[in-house]
Amino acid sequence: MAIPTASSRAKLESLSSSSVAATSPASIGLFCNPGRVRRLPIQKGLLNSGIRCEVAANDVVDQNVTSSSSLSALEQLKTSAADRYTKERSSIVVIGLSIHTTPVEVREKLAIPEAEWPRAIGELCNLNHIEEAAVLSTCNRMEIYVVALSQHRGVKEVTEWMSKTSGVPVAEICKHRFLLYNNDATQHLFEVSAGLDSLVLGEGQILAQVKQVVKVGQGVTGFGRNISGLFKHAITVGKRVRTETNIAAGAVSVSSAAVELALMKLPESSHTTARMLVIGAGKMGKLVIKHLVAKGCTKMVVVNRSEDRVSAIREEMKDVEIIYKPLNEMLNCAAEADVIFTSTASETPLFMKEHVVDLPPVGPSVGGLRLFIDISVPRNVGACVNELESARVYNVDDLKEVVAANKEDRLRKAMEAQAIISEESKQFEAWRDSLETVPTIKKLRAYAERIRLAELEKCMSKMGDDISKKTKKAVDDLSRGCSALRQIYQYWNRKFELKWSKLKNKV
Ligand SMILES: NC(=O)c1ccc[n+]([C@@H]2O[C@H](COP(=O)([O-])OP(=O)(O)OC[C@H]3O[C@@H](n4cnc5c(N)ncnc54)[C@H](OP(=O)(O)O)[C@@H]3O)[C@@H](O)[C@H]2O)c1
Repeated sequence: MAIPTASSRAKLESLSSSSVAATSPASIGLFCNPGRVRRLPIQKGLLNSGIRCEVAANDVVDQNVTSSSSLSALEQLKTSAADRYTKERSSIVVIGLSIHTTPVEVREKLAIPEAEWPRAIGELCNLNHIEEAAVLSTCNRMEIYVVALSQHRGVKEVTEWMSKTSGVPVAEICKHRFLLYNNDATQHLFEVSAGLDSLVLGEGQILAQVKQVVKVGQGVTGFGRNISGLFKHAITVGKRVRTETNIAAGAVSVSSAAVELALMKLPESSHTTARMLVIGAGKMGKLVIKHLVAKGCTKMVVVNRSEDRVSAIREEMKDVEIIYKPLNEMLNCAAEADVIFTSTASETPLFMKEHVVDLPPVGPSVGGLRLFIDISVPRNVGACVNELESARVYNVDDLKEVVAANKEDRLRKAMEAQAIISEESKQFEAWRDSLETVPTIKKLRAYAERIRLAELEKCMSKMGDDISKKTKKAVDDLSRGCSALRQIYQYWNRKFELKWSKLKNKV
């Protein structure tokens, strides 16, 4: 049985009263007529993980209410609404849109910058059926993890919230989203953290991003015990998979795939001579620079808002000539570049058609096309730039072309990691179970103590007033010993019953 938290108790109260207030006599009929729960499998065709996904199509229908009761229908509804949530444990649900299911033009609208995560968690937890929440918003995915009092209503509320905050219609979100519950949601996050669900298998940035979710979530009300436990466990899994399997062997990143893509599009003779411009000197920009150097590039221009980061990179990579330019010189720099990599956190595009149309054409030695390789989400280069005959734009989704080549290798590595993930999923489930066991044991102890005191009082009154202090203490000690035994007996009896009922259900 779920032990409701303070917030869930408050929500239960408001839910039971609001459902009564909002229910017309006509709709009571629906609640009194339990429908069959239909399970709809949703196949999302993910690249790496066989995503398991089910939606209870009409879990709105309350099966606890029967017309045979002598209580009024409204009373039944009120009790059953609260009952539904106290009988069952809250669910962990992920509502996600990833690179495997959703194009970048939709993902970028849904993306939530890191600074906004605490606000988003707060808003999500204000929804009626959401107790805890976390946001995992990266270039590959926008996933919202919640602990929901009701799966169906929780998903509905979160989807509506996503639509409201992004401006993407609910129907559009539903078209692309995937839904996973409990063990499937846990397993999915573990796969994500291990880099199994990334476009570039085993890439390390995703683990850093999962760590960032925990860091930002610390102290945020709503990034509760279950969700923070889940994300912390995912970090352990991510580390384990990378140390115990060879998934990260020769692992590349989105940035290295971006460099690979650029080289694929350039004539081979120009690989080391093409004029390279990197815009953005954050984590991704730095990796782009590193991979360009690894591919033989010896000189490049780096545009960034501030110079500090570029100076630090220059210090680290002494063998390459890095020319720093501020952001307001970006267009002049673009005029003198053949390939432009963009990886900034800017929320608005840096290049639109009108910025690129007047740039001088690039030479035939580099293929006659100015290449924009944009790994930013939201994108830094408008898709309209592709309409120009002189330029080609590639975004993060186009990197699939580079990584598709090693599919078999990916599958083999993914299978190695799966064993660790299933083991860790079981451990996490056991931990979640233990969250419920602790309050149960506390209650059991209090109950046993009440019985002990009552029995002790009865015994003492039978023995009369003239018994010695020593005898009193001996009786008291005896009662404590018996009580401890009784608690142990009840605890194991309860555990046995739980296991037995689970076994019976399986058979
Ligand atoms: N991290 C990943 O694993 C990953 C993977 C693929 C794609 N991406 C995408 O790559 C982009 C950069 O990510 P990151 O991890 O490198 O971020 P980061 O380390 O936080 O760096 C952000 C970069 O963007 C610049 N920037 C921030 N706001 C800007 C603005 N309004 N105008 C122009 N420049 C601005 C920063 O300049 P200052 O140095 O002056 O602050 C810095 O160079 C993001 O769009 C992200 O979605 C990230």
